[in-house]
Amino acid sequence: MLRVAVLASGRGSNFQAIIEAKNSGYLKVDIVCLITDNPEAYAIKRAQENGIPHIYLDPKGYAASDEFFKAIADELKERSTELVVLAGFMRIVKRPLIETFPMRILNIHPALLPSFKGLHGQRQAIQAGVKISGCTVHFVDEGVDTGPIVIQAAVPVLSTDNEETLSERILKYEHLIYPYAIRLFLEDRLIINNGIVKIKVEQRYLNFLVNPVNENLVVKD
Ligand code: GAR
Repeated sequence: MLRVAVLASGRGSNFQAIIEAKNSGYLKVDIVCLITDNPEAYAIKRAQENGIPHIYLDPKGYAASDEFFKAIADELKERSTELVVLAGFMRIVKRPLIETFPMRILNIHPALLPSFKGLHGQRQAIQAGVKISGCTVHFVDEGVDTGPIVIQAAVPVLSTDNEETLSERILKYEHLIYPYAIRLFLEDRLIINNGIVKIKVEQRYLNFLVNPVNENLVVKD
């Protein structure tokens, strides 16, 4: 069982998707804890309902943000964490955490990176007038949304969309690709070379593209 810790700041629907993937047997993981920087995060409730320990760390309690991330790294080391999953964790990860878990931190971003980095990826996509956007799971490095890309799903942007409707459509695919990316990681199928991720998969999974038209797509064995 891979020891996974989740970091979330808010609603935690991606956290829930990971919990469900574990409960269904799709992901052979132990979710060792939830760490949050927000005492009001709904993700805490999800942790409680699923018997997952949660830890609230107040960033204001640290003189510098490096110290805050050192405290997170210490908590995670104490729990023998092997993979850190950022699920709507709305802070730029700093060196002490990245150095403790090199290429062992995943993030999900609501756009097709490297487009629309930073906050409000969905709003940026609408403002740019793109016709296709989506979501990306990537490893976290010291840049903002710049680490090696693991997997992406393409999602159409409709002329009638606003930020909310596009966010909703993208979110469904976030919930599909995040467990899938974690599974690829735990099965040791990700090879990172010069910042490029190659996926060792059977032929039937090669060039995996989530069909944006099929809302009912389920990623199976
Ligand atoms: C998700 O859409 C995620 O992609 C985004 O925040 C939302 C969290 O939702 N993350 C970022 O924008 C990171 N830059 P959730 O709390 O329901 O998982």
